[in-house]
Amino acid sequence: MERLDKVLSNLGYGSRKEIKSIVKAGLVTIDGKIIKDSSMQIDPNKNIITVNGEEVFYRKFIYLMMNKPQDVISATFDNYDTTVIDIIDPSYAVFEPFPVGRLDKDTVGLLILTNDGELNHRLISPKWHVDKVYYAKIDKKIGESDIKAFEKGIVLDDGYKCMPAKLNILKAEDTGSEIEVTIQEGKFHQVKRMFESVGKKVIYLKRIEFGPLDLDESLEEGEYRELSEIEIDSLFKAVSK
Ligand code: URA
Repeated sequence: MERLDKVLSNLGYGSRKEIKSIVKAGLVTIDGKIIKDSSMQIDPNKNIITVNGEEVFYRKFIYLMMNKPQDVISATFDNYDTTVIDIIDPSYAVFEPFPVGRLDKDTVGLLILTNDGELNHRLISPKWHVDKVYYAKIDKKIGESDIKAFEKGIVLDDGYKCMPAKLNILKAEDTGSEIEVTIQEGKFHQVKRMFESVGKKVIYLKRIEFGPLDLDESLEEGEYRELSEIEIDSLFKAVSK
């Protein structure tokens, strides 16, 4: 059971004070009856709530897939830069979602946003070995020795030894390469630092897969959509025994 004003304010119907006044005005019904007490305890999964004659669609969690654009940071608040939360519609922002893991400011691609703390926690824990696949452009020629080094576990500049990573070469020329790399961790600047360790530089980075999800290519950079039930289930399956 939860307080009516809390449920409605979490769904974006206004502050608790505003809800108190719309309830007082007789605009809210529970199971067909006008109620006057905004602090009343209700079960939002069972009771039917209407506001202004419209039924309230209740849900606690939201799950979004974004194609993160460049120059937007994966944080919830920042004094200088635009955040991924700044570019979502207020009807989603009221749920207070947060990004699952981080993408650098200049990295684009698949970012999940949710207010489901438990799922977020599991998805970023290395314990569950969730694969993240990145497409990257590299400044130099990538070869067999790099594939082997990634397989063995790259040692980063701070001495940290990465878990084995799969490197797939799409194009390798003296002037530069295109690759896909699969990692299961999410250390700070991990992919860029892995390539630095083998003497190369990442010049473009895009996340194309996150666990069971592929980036929806119909999403332009900066666009997002809700995950389907099937996609949400697949995420839960990826992080449960
Ligand atoms: N690795 C990086 O270096 N940057 C990212 O944004 C993600 C992974």
